[in-house]
Amino acid sequence: MSTSNGNVRSGSSTLVWDLPTRVFHWVLVVSFAIAWLTSENDRFMYAHVYGGYVLFCLLMFRLVWGVYGSRHARFHSFAHDWSSVTEYLKALLNGQAERYIGHNPAGGWAIFLMLLLCVLASISGLIVLGGEEGHGPFKHLIAYDIGENAKEIHEFLANAMIAMVGLHLAGVVVESVIHKENLIWAMLSGRKTVEKEEPSVRAFHIIGAVLLITVLGTAGYYFRGYVVESDAVPFKPYRNVKLADNTTWRKECGECHLAFHPSLLPARSWELMMKQQSDHFGDALELDPETTNEITQFLVENSADKGTSEPAHKINARIKPDETPLRVTETRYWKRKHSAEFVDEVYWKSEKVKSKANCGACHLDANTGWFEDSDMRLPKLSTKSEETPR
Ligand code: HEC
Ligand code: HEC
Repeated sequence: MSTSNGNVRSGSSTLVWDLPTRVFHWVLVVSFAIAWLTSENDRFMYAHVYGGYVLFCLLMFRLVWGVYGSRHARFHSFAHDWSSVTEYLKALLNGQAERYIGHNPAGGWAIFLMLLLCVLASISGLIVLGGEEGHGPFKHLIAYDIGENAKEIHEFLANAMIAMVGLHLAGVVVESVIHKENLIWAMLSGRKTVEKEEPSVRAFHIIGAVLLITVLGTAGYYFRGYVVESDAVPFKPYRNVKLADNTTWRKECGECHLAFHPSLLPARSWELMMKQQSDHFGDALELDPETTNEITQFLVENSADKGTSEPAHKINARIKPDETPLRVTETRYWKRKHSAEFVDEVYWKSEKVKSKANCGACHLDANTGWFEDSDMRLPKLSTKSEETPR
């Protein structure tokens, strides 16, 4: 280590960052950027998940490399004690910060914090994926509600990481200016110029190449499901599932309103509804016993608790065991998806919608029970009496 002499550096060039460390760094940058940029829109969810898997594999490698890697990649080489951090920052404010060949004390701690944030963000992401989407390694372990709550933690960690990336970049710029060296180029080439003799670290070319291939491959392995997908084993949890149908049910229950697909309510709700035929939301159904049996059986066999579609899974996961809702529109999941955040008040008052139960006004696939995002169209509010939303 030598102090800045204020001149453009002249001296010999030495290898500071081995290849695996550089591969780790730059693939991490790219995968984090992918995950960040695709986080807002459900359509890009699998690109987001891919970015997350790459990130997670990289982190697992880095934890090992922090112990077995070359000199400046090892954790103990930049685990400076707290007093050297404060000293470094004080000197920095006076414009006299010492030059470190590896990470400086403040930078070292930023690295540790970023690694920790990334590990926690990956794990919380897997929890959200398992709970909310029924996918990934935790799909059978995590309840829907836990997944949903983990989402807020996941977002908080990602935002904290963005803040740390900002600090890290500021640090790189400041250090580059003070010591008149290009730290970004140093992280690409791995080399820095030194005055004093400083032996190069081992490059570990083969490990670097193997790392790159393994990380991308391992993450890609996750997507093997796309290639080997079949009707029996769909890649996405609910694709290709054909939802059950029944003509008697369509005829009798589609007379006054949309025939609400059985997958929208749990079995106990249907059983109760079919018992209370004389008071069906103010109407009387009066079906003969045979028809009642056939419809009840169809409803119960294909109810939300079977979880055969995404709405079924999501609606059912949020109904408490002691609740027996008789309206889809009163389930927690439905209410959240149709809160003012997603559907403006004016739509519910609109002539084209009239009732919350008029699913078909907005969902082109309401008849099938699917309710895919891509088949949702809010109706155009054209008549004069109807205001256009925000
Ligand atoms: C005679 C007309 C009529 C028939 C036939 C009928 N319903 Fe209904 N149903 C209604 C009315 C009226 C409502 C209340 C609609 C509203 O609030 O907009 C309703 C509401 C519902 C709801 C709640 C919708 C929500 O708000 O989530 C469900 C579920 C339902 N019906 C199921 C059935 C089933 C199952 C059958 C067949 C066994 C059936 N209905 C047959 C008149 C009928
Ligand atoms: C006024 C229009 C409107 C009506 C009527 C309506 N929805 Fe929706 N629904 C929406 C919108 C908008 C969304 C999208 C929310 C979002 O962006 O996630 C949505 C989302 C959903 C989703 C979640 C889809 C997903 O994968 O994110 C389900 C399930 C759903 N609606 C079911 C129903 C059912 C069942 C009914 C009838 C009982 C109904 N909707 C009536 C507008 C409507």
